[in-house]
Amino acid sequence: MKTAVVTGASSGFGAAIARQLVAQGHTVIGLARRQDKLQALADELGERFVPVSVDLTDRTAVDRALGDILRRFPVIDVLVNNAGLALGVAPAQQAQLADWDTTVATNISALLHMTHALLPGMVQRNQGHIINLGSTAGAYAYAGGNVYGASKAFVHHFSKNLRADLAGTAVRVSTVAPGLCSGTDFSKVRLGSDEKAAALYQNVQALTPDDVAGTIAWIMNAPAHMNVNYIEIMPVAQSFAGLSVHRSA
Ligand SMILES: NC(=O)c1ccc[n+]([C@@H]2O[C@H](COP(=O)([O-])OP(=O)(O)OC[C@H]3O[C@@H](n4cnc5c(N)ncnc54)[C@H](OP(=O)(O)O)[C@@H]3O)[C@@H](O)[C@H]2O)c1
Repeated sequence: MKTAVVTGASSGFGAAIARQLVAQGHTVIGLARRQDKLQALADELGERFVPVSVDLTDRTAVDRALGDILRRFPVIDVLVNNAGLALGVAPAQQAQLADWDTTVATNISALLHMTHALLPGMVQRNQGHIINLGSTAGAYAYAGGNVYGASKAFVHHFSKNLRADLAGTAVRVSTVAPGLCSGTDFSKVRLGSDEKAAALYQNVQALTPDDVAGTIAWIMNAPAHMNVNYIEIMPVAQSFAGLSVHRSA
């Protein structure tokens, strides 16, 4: 059985990942800011879910939390860098700079901080797995995707570069890039209201958090000699719409 650190465990994919991994007998240390949500999950899942309330963009707080975690669990087998967000769908020329800063701090800098802290131990033990949450937004450009999509493209390429540096070790790195998924707080956070988020998923069979969690559990439980580099999943209801062409009147 493995010990996994899962960031963004208070809702959406992270909570579903925690539920599936704990059900399989693994121990999950779940990080997020919302203490009440983490505690509710701890009450549901029992002692194999360890809630850690921390703002991942606060470097000092993260170092303190990691110190506590590593004292209690010196061997971390899996890191799921799942915490992330998008803020708004405005075109770049109308976006708030503060929203871009928050997106970079959460989706890139916090992921780097967690990876930098836990990777050396994995290499030393020659055993470990980092699973990063990317997005189809990181693979395909769309209007309003600007910094969110770019942050996920960073995640995709950083994961591959990690594998390059880890050549010759048994440490695995995988990226999971989902498309449209309902049942999480993602669109509520991005669009700023429950109603707008609900409209996005109206009459669409989107992916579910369990679909994503099941994919992550499969990647994690794959034979030790097998590395899933990158996996992209979309609901059948979603596909490609081609490139846009602006014609003058
Ligand atoms: N839903 C989709 O359609 C979709 C598609 C592709 C990729 N993704 C990616 O999947 C990941 C999970 O998203 P989700 O859909 O499950 O959304 P979600 O329900 O909003 O979950 C996001 C998680 O990140 C945590 N988080 C955000 N900022 C944080 C911070 N500063 N410190 C600590 N934790 C923080 C949130 O916890 P607190 O608010 O409690 O801190 C929450 O647990 C994200 O990386 C997202 O970009 C989502």
